[in-house]
Amino acid sequence: MNALISAHSGLRWLLLLTIIISIIVSYANRSNSVLEKKQKLIYLSAFIFSHIQLLIGLILYFIYSGKVVFSSSTMADKITRFFTLEHSLGMLIAIALITIGYIKCKKQNNHNRVFWFYLIALVIIFASIPWPFREALGVSNWA
Ligand code: HEM
Repeated sequence: MNALISAHSGLRWLLLLTIIISIIVSYANRSNSVLEKKQKLIYLSAFIFSHIQLLIGLILYFIYSGKVVFSSSTMADKITRFFTLEHSLGMLIAIALITIGYIKCKKQNNHNRVFWFYLIALVIIFASIPWPFREALGVSNWA
C-alpha cells in the first residue's frame, strides 16, 4: 500500500512534466495542421501517465486509502473531504479533459485542441494536488 501511494505521489512529477512539455509544443505548433510522430508521442506520454494515475488512484480510493471515508462526518473533516471528494473529482475531470484533447488532436491533427484541453487540465491538477504547503491535508513530503 505504501509503495502504491509512493508511486502515485512520484508519478505526479512525470505527469506534470509531460503536460507542461505538451502545452509548450502544442502552442508552438498551434497553426500547424500536421501532427508529427514525435509530437504525438509527447502528447501520448501525458495521456498514458494520467491514466496510470487514474488506475492507481482508483485502487487507493476503493481499497487501500484510510483517507477515503463514506460517512456522515466525511464533509466535516478536511482530510477525508479532500480525498473522498475534492482531489478525486478534480483529477477525474482533468484526466477526462486530457483524454478528449488527445483524441481530438489525433483525429483532427489539431494542436490547438491539446493546448487548451491540457492547459485547463493542468490548472485543475495543480489545484487538486495535496501539496505539502497545504498543511491541513496532512501530506508533508514532496516525493
Ligand atoms: C492527475 C492525477 C493525480 C495526481 C497528480 C494525484 C496526486 C496525488 C498525490 C500527490 C497524493 C498524495 C500522496 C502522498 O500521501 O504522498 C495523492 C493521494 C491520493 N490520491 Fe491522487 N492523484 C491523481 C489522481 C487521483 C485519482 C483519479 C484518484 C481517485 C479516483 C486519486 C485518489 C487518491 C487517494 C485516495 C489518495 C490518498 C492516499 C492515502 O494517502 O491514503 N488520485 N494523489
